[in-house]
Amino acid sequence: MSKKIVSRSALHYLLCITSLLFISKLAIGVDNEIIYSGPGDNKDGYESRDYVTKSLSINERKGEKANLIKYAEQSQLGLPKLEIPKNNPITEKKIALGKKLFFDRRISLNNTMSCAMCHIPEQGFTNNEIRTAVGIEGRSNLRNAPTIINSAYYKFLFHDAREYSLENQVWQPVLNHSEMGMPSFGFTVKKLELILGYKNLFNDAFPGEGINVATFGKAIASYERSLISANSNFDKWYFGKNDKAVSAEVKKGFEVFIGKGNCVSCHSIDNDHALFFDNKLHNTGVGYADSMGLLIKNNKTVVQLAPGEYVEVDNNIIKSVNQQKKKNDLGLYGITENPDHRWMFKTPSLRNISLTSPYMHNGVFSTLDDVINFYNEGGVQNELLSPKIKKLNLSKAEKINLKFFLESLVGENINILIADALFQTVGDLTKDDPNWANDKDMGYNK
Ligand code: HEC
Ligand code: HEC
Repeated sequence: MSKKIVSRSALHYLLCITSLLFISKLAIGVDNEIIYSGPGDNKDGYESRDYVTKSLSINERKGEKANLIKYAEQSQLGLPKLEIPKNNPITEKKIALGKKLFFDRRISLNNTMSCAMCHIPEQGFTNNEIRTAVGIEGRSNLRNAPTIINSAYYKFLFHDAREYSLENQVWQPVLNHSEMGMPSFGFTVKKLELILGYKNLFNDAFPGEGINVATFGKAIASYERSLISANSNFDKWYFGKNDKAVSAEVKKGFEVFIGKGNCVSCHSIDNDHALFFDNKLHNTGVGYADSMGLLIKNNKTVVQLAPGEYVEVDNNIIKSVNQQKKKNDLGLYGITENPDHRWMFKTPSLRNISLTSPYMHNGVFSTLDDVINFYNEGGVQNELLSPKIKKLNLSKAEKINLKFFLESLVGENINILIADALFQTVGDLTKDDPNWANDKDMGYNK
């Protein structure tokens, strides 16, 4: 994607022309001239003088409010109609409240960490800069933060599929010691009650219920349900039958995806939609390699000795001196304790995949080329490797075309979702809302 920033008036002019030409498209919104995404860098080669950042300056990251509810209610080309749970009908008020909570750093113990700081809108609602998530007070997490775009379609949530609804999922990061660090459900609810404004917003969105464990989950889940993005160039070609929507390379890459690459056997495609996941878990060898200390890539790390002076050090040496041993991540086994489930992880969707690096549950791969090379080699051999993963012998051209295909999966409204998120004011401590200390205002020792 080329980075092309146009002024607002130019954009308005452009939109007028586009709306005359493609009135039907306006329902979803075409705003491809402004690129909000992609500011995150994976920092590969950061130590080199030639490092160029893709980050946009604050001025270029202007927000614009969108009508989010339509993305939850209307189908987009390529995705099935979204099922909305009967006990949490979607409303604009819930979405607005959920969005406010999603960006509010006061939902962490020390008022520093919001959901959006790991699921960063302009980085594909994930974090392009780190392989595994870092939470409150710099605490490390074992896994990579997945995107939350289209997460409403998953039957299972988390890399190990340990949750089943967005409503319940919300509480894990909030209460996790190394994510947002809140000490309990009750503490979180009480803290929200003390923050100016939330009582009214909850009462409006959930008449007669107010702030409680369930409504907190329902509000954030409603925002997440509105972050749906499809109608990609691939969809316009494959489902929309617009032959010109993608290049010849993308079409050839798709052939590899469904043929020689056998990707489609897990990243599923149906007759009238494509989720690109199968609601199952598989062993691709990534987890096994991680557990066994087989480093798939980058077996050297560049270490800075003094300003401007670098040496390459073998990762095994770094590991041997690292006091803190990383926890072994066995995937689904951790949930079922069935030994056959070791190193099985959830199949993620591939929609918007070019915006959501690094890849895999541990963020081991920085680029789609790395991922494609990994599959081409047949993953990593282990006794529980999925029988669907085999050496592929793809030619150079086949690999490149496969990547082009993957890149054609960026949803049409992605910039609109990002701009809408950037419009949200971050819930910080202001003078109307003084920095009350947890121990004072919670009523302890009074
Ligand atoms: C410290 C970083 C961090 C914060 C803060 C955080 N998340 Fe996450 N999120 C992650 C990681 C890492 C995972 C994957 C964890 C796993 O699979 O065990 C994840 C997983 C998820 C998933 C599951 C997606 C999927 O594909 O299965 C959702 C939904 C989600 N987070 C939403 C939220 C919400 C809502 C909040 C705020 C209440 C939040 N996250 C706060 C890092 C974070
Ligand atoms: C056996 C089922 C299976 C097959 C076949 C398969 N995948 Fe995957 N794919 C997975 C699973 C499971 C993961 C998650 C692995 C993890 O998190 O460690 C994944 C992850 C990915 C990711 C990273 C997604 C992310 O958000 O991190 C990409 C990209 C990908 N696969 C592309 C492909 C391509 C291209 C092919 C064909 C060459 C393919 N896959 C074949 C199951 C499969």
